[in-house]
Amino acid sequence: MTHSAIAPSTGVKKRLLTGLKPTGTLHIGNYFATIKPFYEMYGEYESFIMVADYHAVTTARDPKRLRNNILENTRDYLAVGIDPEKALLFQQSSVTEHTELAWIFECLVTVPFLMQCHAYKDKVAKGIEPTAGLFNYPMLMAADILLYDAEIIPVGADQRQHVEYAREAVKKFNLAYGETFVAPQELIHDAVATVPGTDGQKMSKSYRNTIPLFGTKDEIAKAVMSIVTDSGAGRPEHVYAVHKLFKSDEELETLYAEKEGKYKDLKEALIEDIESVIAPMRERRVSISDDDVRKVLEEGSAKAKEIAGEKMRVVRQKIGISGA
Ligand code: ADP
Ligand code: TRP
Repeated sequence: MTHSAIAPSTGVKKRLLTGLKPTGTLHIGNYFATIKPFYEMYGEYESFIMVADYHAVTTARDPKRLRNNILENTRDYLAVGIDPEKALLFQQSSVTEHTELAWIFECLVTVPFLMQCHAYKDKVAKGIEPTAGLFNYPMLMAADILLYDAEIIPVGADQRQHVEYAREAVKKFNLAYGETFVAPQELIHDAVATVPGTDGQKMSKSYRNTIPLFGTKDEIAKAVMSIVTDSGAGRPEHVYAVHKLFKSDEELETLYAEKEGKYKDLKEALIEDIESVIAPMRERRVSISDDDVRKVLEEGSAKAKEIAGEKMRVVRQKIGISGA
């Protein structure tokens, strides 16, 4: 699906928004599916990138770790090159309108509808406690998006259904109270919809199969060397699948033909290719102080709150709790 950054009817820039939970160190799956597409597009749109800390609270139980992850993940976005003058970079929990709007949506969608959510079912199947917060997670995400009238949402494939749920919240609200929200669209590029990890399964913080985005060269090398190689076949598919993120098929065809069967050489080439992308960002990252990070979050959150506050004034009027 192609997107135009300008709404044809009004000539106004559309809004682009994404968010990530500060639950750990970012990996290259997060980067290729969400942060990189955001980075490549954000100048053309009115853009928002959010540290989804209230979403993290659905599972995070260590306050010190959470506090640290909020700072570190924000530093990561800045290190990638996102300019906080050109995108609103903010902390979800600082904009209390998110939880307020989530409540209103929770009063509109049904329990059976929320029960169909794959992410919820998967987490519960993995033994995570089925709390009400985990269950209502999609409505908080709908609020994140709809408070800002964001239309384009870069995410990985596992978030597709969550954006569908946001569209359902739009439908329910607009039907009950009149046109108020715009339907958002997920942006998922096929080539990076599900980035594989070192074991060939989906790369995920929870599977211990990640290649860290800002790891040291040694950490990246260790992760790459641990990529599972299927013996027998000339081309190690799991290595190739990660390599494809960094080089074109044409470049890789030649390299993999030359180095047929030489898994160690291929992994070493992959380490160098990852390093050439990550090293400049890693270098930039060390120059970003805690104070810089805090200031960006504070200023971004204050601006986000103005926009969200304006939208909530409309919403409160529409549902009849203010303006009598
Ligand atoms: P994780 O699964 O590692 O905990 P998150 O749930 O925090 O990652 O995901 C943050 C964002 O990164 C989401 O948009 C998600 O779809 C995307 N993402 C995470 N892992 C991958 C992956 N392996 N491939 C593509 N996108 C991913
Ligand atoms: N649920 C997303 C994830 O697990 C994070 C998220 C929260 C998000 N709010 C969002 C993503 C709004 C896009 C838009 O990764």
